Parts: sequence; structure tokens; C-alpha cells
Amino acid sequence: PLAKNLFGLADLEEKIRQAYGLRKVVIVPGDSEVSSFSKRELGRAGAKALLSVMGNEDIIAVTGGSTLAAVAEQLTQPSSAHVKRTWFVPARGGLGESLEFQANTVASTMAKSVGAQYRLLHLPDLLSEDAYQSLVQDVNIQEIVQIIRQSRIIVHGIGDAMEMTRRRKLDSAIVEAIRADGAIAESFGYYFNDEGAMVHKMMILGLRLEDIMKTEIVIGIAGGKSKARAIHAVLKFGQEDILVTDEAAALEIEREM
Ligand code: BG6
Repeated sequence: PLAKNLFGLADLEEKIRQAYGLRKVVIVPGDSEVSSFSKRELGRAGAKALLSVMGNEDIIAVTGGSTLAAVAEQLTQPSSAHVKRTWFVPARGGLGESLEFQANTVASTMAKSVGAQYRLLHLPDLLSEDAYQSLVQDVNIQEIVQIIRQSRIIVHGIGDAMEMTRRRKLDSAIVEAIRADGAIAESFGYYFNDEGAMVHKMMILGLRLEDIMKTEIVIGIAGGKSKARAIHAVLKFGQEDILVTDEAAALEIEREM
């Protein structure tokens, strides 16, 4: 707390919390995009935020990404809670990330660190309409998707829309359509505009927007100056409860507000 006040971050946390009607905002010093120290701190703060709300028989859905991987790395076994009957699941199926950044990997790593259970969803990255329709019929997939949709907690990363289309190697025609729709942010495979409206979604199974809207605790974790607009857009979507970010993003968000 002392260090935070020295940096003036406590005031900024409160300002952002009020502006977007959040339950809690945590800002770590620095810019996690350029400093690996800051990225670790972001991961540590994210882990702490998750542990503070995690219960005994929870279902926790997580996205992939390097930030969530940093959170998974910093998670430790909670001293008091009994989490043996808590489940970690990926928020949505394959989204074209490298193995270490996949939601499946994040979910299993987190479960192992805290001594909880996990279920994985093995799906191809991009589904054709036909593939989607037949996978929806699959009993095993239906079962895990049902579990995912009952999550009480969601922990997710936020990405810049165009950056995420590059990372996912989407076809240029799709990228153009997403750009034309005014997408600024990406999260859970959904693209959002500056007003927080969903303008494009990837055909993939898992959490739907209506599931996210009824989820009790949504924790967004993202930092770096270049992500400020994207974070703003997702906060405008209005489903976040806890935001964990860094100083560089927070200072820019303050300008967006
Ligand atoms: C993806 C998530 O894996 O990571 C997205 O599905 C998120 O929801 C993105 O936008 C952010 O990644 P990173 O590496 O910038 O934390």
C-alpha cells in the first residue's frame, strides 16, 4: 500500500473503479508490454485477485494468452480454502494460440497449482459451419460445454482487435470485415467496438455472451500502453467486476474515460 501511494496508483485505481462501476481495480507499477518484471507483477496481482474470490466448489473458466499464462505461473495453493472440488475449464475451444498460451494449458496449470480439478475442451481453432453443427451434437463436448456455461468465475485476458486477428492468422477478408465493424478489442473470441458492443464473433464453442452476463465474478487481466483502448472497450461492455492492469495502461485508460 505504501509503495502504491508513492506511485499515486491507489488514487488511479479508485478513479477507474468509479468511472466503470467496478468492484475492484488493481494497478501494478510499470508497463507489462515492455518489462518482464511488470508482466510478472501483473500475473501475481491477477493470481491474488482470483484467490480472493475462489470458493470450495467453484467452476472457473479461463481464457488463454500470455497474461493468463503469467497468472497461472504465480498461482499458489491457498492455505485455507478446500479447492479439491473446484474445477478449472477453458472459456472457449481452440482459438489459434501456441500451446503454452492456450486456454486448455492455462486451465490445467492453474488447477494443478491450487490442487483443484480440470476439464479440457479439445477443438480445432476455426470451425466450419458443418464442423460446428456436428460438434454441437457430440455428447462429450455437450457435457463439458454445459460445465463451462455454469462457471461462477471467469478470468480472461483482453487483446487489441487487430493484434489478435494477426495472432490468430485470420483470412484477410475476415480481418477487413472485423475492422470495418469497428472492432477495437477482443476477448473470449468476441470482438467489441469502442462502445463495448459485440461486433464480431468467432465460431467456437464455449461461453456465450449470455453466459458471461450472468456470471457472478468476471476478472479481466490486461496491461500495456497499447491495450488501453481495448481495455476501455471491454469495460464498456459492462460485465467486468475486477480489473487487474498496469500503470501504463491505466494512465491511458484515464484519458479514454
Ligand atoms: C487470448 C484470449 O488467448 O488472449 C483473449 O482468448 C485475449 O481473450 C488474449 O484477448 C490476450 O492475450 P495476451 O497474450 O495479450 O495476454
